[in-house]
Amino acid sequence: MPVTAIILAAGEGTRMKSAHPKVTHKLLDHPLVWWSVDAARKAQVDRIVVVVGNGADEVRDVFAGDDDITFVEQAERLGTGHAVKVVRDELGGLAGPVVVLTGDSPLIRPETISKLVDHNREGHFACTVLTMVPKDPSGYGRIVFGTDGQIKAIVEDKDCTPRQRLELCECNSGIYCFCGRRLSESIDRLGHDNVQGEYYLTDMVGIYREMGEPVSSVPCCDPTELLGVNDRAQLAEATCVMRDRINQRLMAEGVSMLDPSLVWVGPDVEVARDAVLMPMTMLWGRTSVGEASVIGPNSRLTDTYVGCRSTVEETVAIEARIDDDVSCGPRAYLRPGAHLMDGSKAGTHVEIKKSTIGPGSKVPHLSYIGDATIGEGVNIGAGTITCNYDGIHKNKTTIGDRTFVGSDTMLVAPVNVGSDVTIGASSCITHDVPDGALAVERSEQKVVEGYAARKRAQRGEA
Ligand code: UD1
Ligand code: CA
Repeated sequence: MPVTAIILAAGEGTRMKSAHPKVTHKLLDHPLVWWSVDAARKAQVDRIVVVVGNGADEVRDVFAGDDDITFVEQAERLGTGHAVKVVRDELGGLAGPVVVLTGDSPLIRPETISKLVDHNREGHFACTVLTMVPKDPSGYGRIVFGTDGQIKAIVEDKDCTPRQRLELCECNSGIYCFCGRRLSESIDRLGHDNVQGEYYLTDMVGIYREMGEPVSSVPCCDPTELLGVNDRAQLAEATCVMRDRINQRLMAEGVSMLDPSLVWVGPDVEVARDAVLMPMTMLWGRTSVGEASVIGPNSRLTDTYVGCRSTVEETVAIEARIDDDVSCGPRAYLRPGAHLMDGSKAGTHVEIKKSTIGPGSKVPHLSYIGDATIGEGVNIGAGTITCNYDGIHKNKTTIGDRTFVGSDTMLVAPVNVGSDVTIGASSCITHDVPDGALAVERSEQKVVEGYAARKRAQRGEA
């Protein structure tokens, strides 16, 4: 039977004190709800249903372009049991194992989900609850065990007697696996006679027990997996847990970090062995870093490819490509479409956009290179700028191989400069330059001798 995962994400999250729904807040480079969905995907469930309500469109936007998700809108938030009932009605019934996850528990591991499903399926249970023993159980539903040692009921914190609150330490993680068919048939039995006046999904445990249906619980040994995010402090805490998890994996794979608490790497990033990640480095999106490259300190790379043995210091790069043996920064800004080929350099205060810097070519200081194709072995002098924008169009600059561009050159695009060209410093190049030529554009230098003495005499000084 195909496995369905239902991710409850309709709640408001008032404690975040935010204009945006809680589950859209980011943990590393992905929204909270994305992590729950990712865990479900990695556990290879067959169908993913996300229940949206509060800020529904923003939550949907998190998955724009993903076609493996069914959204169900819960217009009125009448509780977790109600949310699942709405899903059943919308899908015309449930069958097979149904895993319920929440959009605000981003640290759940795919292996834990798989184990939960296997346990429920093998034991033919109507429901298996994933439980935990948190340091501070306040706020969580408490597990009540029967004399047979089996789970008997879940009592919400708000509905606990003072004694239950004190004595019951095993808690409901909010993650379950149900038999879809039996859940479909029985969920209408849920009432809302409780302190919050809500339909609690947790009440299904007691209902099944009364019906004589088998229910079970499995403990989750790693409490960090079940950390719920309700406020910004918990969001920061969960982010640290995930950062450590990812960094531990990378270090085990041969990546060095001077201080792993100051490196943030997204879940889809690849880093090869002998790479070094220096403090204050963020690697986001589909970034990949090749062997023995050194990134940071102070670098943020998003969807950027870095080859081997390159150094990328104090650099911001977005959708850029940095090949092998490249030197970047300190303080380089590589914008989408920047491609630094083998052995090239983008130095200090250099911005490159939609341009190719050929093998071994150097842009060492204070330059803007946009919409340009630069050949091999080119030297771009300090302060050189491609004037690519005329106010209406973006225009192209091409430069051949081995060309030397003097400092403070303006290349007014569209313009083509050939190979083996020399451009004199401070030239404003508005016309194409053929191969092997010298181009200089500058007014003649005037020298007025004895100028200082003349001025002194004018002022009546000796
Ligand atoms: C829930 C459990 C509690 C468990 C805890 C673990 C119930 C009644 N209680 O409590 O036993 O210990 O999780 O974190 O289930 N949601 C909807 N629609 C609704 C209500 C909630 O989609 O109508 C979503 C919320 O967005 C949230 C999740 O369900 O993602 C949990 O709801 P919440 O009200 O926060 O339950 P807890 O009080 O955390
Ligand atoms: Ca000039």
